[in-house]
Amino acid sequence: MLNDAVKYIKERIGDFNPEIGIILGSGLGELADENCDIAINYADIPDFEASTVVGHKGRLVFAKINEKNVVMMQGRFHLYEGYSAQKVGFPIKVLKKLGIKTIIITNAAGGVNPNFHPSDLMIITDHINMMGTNPLIGANDTEMGERFPDMNEIYSSELVDLVCKVGNSIGVDLQEGTYLAFTGPSYETPAEIRMAKALGADAVGMSTVPEAIVASWANINVIGISCICNAAAGVDMAVLSHEDVIKTAHNAKEKFKKLIKEVIKKLK
Ligand code: HPA
Repeated sequence: MLNDAVKYIKERIGDFNPEIGIILGSGLGELADENCDIAINYADIPDFEASTVVGHKGRLVFAKINEKNVVMMQGRFHLYEGYSAQKVGFPIKVLKKLGIKTIIITNAAGGVNPNFHPSDLMIITDHINMMGTNPLIGANDTEMGERFPDMNEIYSSELVDLVCKVGNSIGVDLQEGTYLAFTGPSYETPAEIRMAKALGADAVGMSTVPEAIVASWANINVIGISCICNAAAGVDMAVLSHEDVIKTAHNAKEKFKKLIKEVIKKLK
């Protein structure tokens, strides 16, 4: 399964060896439109599913950005689409086999922290898994990772510092905080957001956690960045809609792209 996908992609990319992976969240796909040397549709890759969400294209895009070989997932898989956590995490195993050392996982999120505003970017320092499942459930591939992987430094403080420094140096302000993931697809209730806040969450969303767990398990360095697209349910009582989330993500995309490109430059 894994080997079929890897073999197919390797045939298509030849001697392009990706060092950095990026998962582009809702509304952030433009980075892959603007930097595209080779594109492979998910539908063509053995055992990849085709993503269905509005605002997600569904392809792997390979490009040189700031002298680094990058592979971007333009579109990702979500639990709320009906995929298992294992399916959601599968592309990360493929990227590991392609040779990436670091992954930048981005997402659109709701702000739980009252100091956050729409269009803010938040560097993820930790997460809370409220999805009720884990992508590592099942037989363990011991060649790739341990049965009981440590998650103390899932978002390494070294990389959090690096992203903060980069943000500072280019004038992109960053919030910092803990990301809590629910499965969706319904947005949260105000009571659920009060719970998330009591648990220590600064932002909530419906992605990232499965991919981050698989990446960390496979010894890939993880950077997580959320685009805060709205105040979470009950924080300002506004009605939440996917269209508004995408609109806000679009408003933040220029600074988001600038930040990511600069982080790529600074990664070892
Ligand atoms: N909740 C969950 N996921 C989200 C939100 C939200 O408020 N905004 C963007 N993605």
